[in-house]
Amino acid sequence: MTAAVLAPAPTAAAADAAFLRLAGVGKRFGGLLALDGIDLEIRRGEVLGLLGDNGAGKTTLVKVIAGVHQPSAGTIECCGEVVRIASPDRAHQLGIETVFQDLALIPNLPVADNFFIGRERTFDLVPRLIRILRNREMERDAAETLKRLDIHIPSLRVNVDSLSGGQRQAIAIARAIRWKASLVILDEPTAALSVPEQTKVLELTRQLAGQGVAVVYITHNMDDVLRVTDRIAVLHRGRKAAELRTAETDRNEIVHLIMSGRR
Ligand SMILES: Nc1ncnc2c1ncn2[C@@H]1O[C@H](COP(=O)(O)OP(=O)(O)OP(=O)(O)O)[C@@H](O)[C@H]1O
Ligand SMILES: [Mg+2]
Repeated sequence: MTAAVLAPAPTAAAADAAFLRLAGVGKRFGGLLALDGIDLEIRRGEVLGLLGDNGAGKTTLVKVIAGVHQPSAGTIECCGEVVRIASPDRAHQLGIETVFQDLALIPNLPVADNFFIGRERTFDLVPRLIRILRNREMERDAAETLKRLDIHIPSLRVNVDSLSGGQRQAIAIARAIRWKASLVILDEPTAALSVPEQTKVLELTRQLAGQGVAVVYITHNMDDVLRVTDRIAVLHRGRKAAELRTAETDRNEIVHLIMSGRR
């Protein structure tokens, strides 16, 4: 049943709830304050655009959420409880998946294997001695998820390095869906993609939100911002300069905020 691989639809009440709540989050690198007093709610079923000029602090904020960096100030709540996201593994346990353009998948492994890295299905042929991978089963499972999302890959046995950037991005997002992520962070997912590939990634992003997943979407592309986000947070020199509903703003205002940090 295909529905089994998808996150459950949220109830109306849950749809409003914040999945993550950052309060006063700061990150210092030596003398540089890369993040300063960031308050931010990341909500289920919503695409939050994280915008800002080069060096504004976007990737640093993502790395704090993904357990790569520890904040030097502030607190993070997940589902209403204060958490310490001490490592990327801890972030995965909390249902936080980060998709980077090229680092998300292992290039010299087939598509199906990439779906199951660190979560391989096996059975013991001889207990504690010979363990066999359930390749067929993993392939069927990956194929089902890709079919459900209307992602066409020539074969699940080809290595990921023979696929296009857009196909890789689609697989990385499909994997996050397969593992029922609660929050998916996309750091510049459409940079260097062809136009049809960009459209596919934007569609998948909306599908994720439609399934009740919280999505953080980083981009410098204003068309993407206007097409895919529900809300926007603008960072400027490590501070949050503004938070807006996408429907209530326009390209000029967003660009002005990114450049000046002021309304
Ligand atoms: N590991 C690090 N050590 C020291 N300084 C860092 C480190 N990582 C980031 N910085 C600094 O923190 C600031 C924010 O960087 P960050 O990578 O978060 O920016 P960004 O908003 O993602 O920019 P871009 O749009 O160019 O990707 C920059 O001044 C950067 O030089
Ligand atoms: Mg960055």
